[in-house]
Amino acid sequence: MPLVNLNQLYKDAYVNKYAIGAFNVDTLAMCRAVLEVSQKNRSPVILMFSEGSRAFMHPGNIKDLIENISQDITIPFAIHLDHGRSIESCISCIDEGFTSVMIDASKYSFEENVRITKQVVEYAHKHNVTVEAEVGCVEASKKDEDNFYTDPDVAIRFIKETGCDSLAVSIGTGHGLMKFKEDEKPQLRFDILEKINEKLPYFPLVLHGSSSISPSLLEDFNKYGGNIKTAKGIDEALLSKAASINVCKINIGTDFRMSYITGLREALAKNSDKFTPRTFLTPALEKIKECVDYKQNHIFNSVNRIKEE
Ligand code: G3H
Ligand code: ZN
Repeated sequence: MPLVNLNQLYKDAYVNKYAIGAFNVDTLAMCRAVLEVSQKNRSPVILMFSEGSRAFMHPGNIKDLIENISQDITIPFAIHLDHGRSIESCISCIDEGFTSVMIDASKYSFEENVRITKQVVEYAHKHNVTVEAEVGCVEASKKDEDNFYTDPDVAIRFIKETGCDSLAVSIGTGHGLMKFKEDEKPQLRFDILEKINEKLPYFPLVLHGSSSISPSLLEDFNKYGGNIKTAKGIDEALLSKAASINVCKINIGTDFRMSYITGLREALAKNSDKFTPRTFLTPALEKIKECVDYKQNHIFNSVNRIKEE
């Protein structure tokens, strides 16, 4: 059964030192594109919906739609809620058939985060759904604040108290285009990963805000009308290193979205006399396929993990 929760996938990723890519999808065609590449690569993958993209897709039948378009897919994949902001939002996804949810109560106090996460875990586990939670803060703009980095002892206490299945940690990645200041040397706090790993081996961690925003992506994005002046993402080698320790899921939003829009802009610019939507959407989908393919092969190390049937 290709549609799975993340428990088994995390176990394999941890033991074999790779990470599973989670991509922020917005449409069914994007889901299909991600699944096709992952099938070709024999790589597990996570289709990740923010609350906004779920609303855009029309909540209620997303799981059924994806099941319909994945009849020929044999690699395991999960349908995951990204940054669920409330217990209700998570429950609604679980009822709909999502196999994994993230409850992001990281903006609350430790006690409140525990209380909220525990309630989601209780409901999710009854439905065989895995739960990701978050301790610390992954907003790059808040890097100078005291609680930006995850405290390993707090993380371990949180995991034990909530029973969550994975934890998003803050080790220097961040949401947004500028993940590091202009003059800052890009680095990640591997010591935090190591400390959690020492005390809680086999526990899967998650990295948010992990796009690399390479100079060539930025250049291509701007070539046909995009206007992003500066960006500073996460070095690929740092992500690969994290994947070889205990990071089992890496979230990619910005690179994936920018790739799509780059393909779309180029097609729009080059086909001004055309009006069939697929003339424009197909190249956009090709760009996200390239993005997924590259990351699975060169960063996550997740290819050929699933045996041919
Ligand atoms: O939850 C989504 C991710 O954390 C996306 O981060 O935009 O840096 O790829 P990113
Ligand atoms: Zn995130």
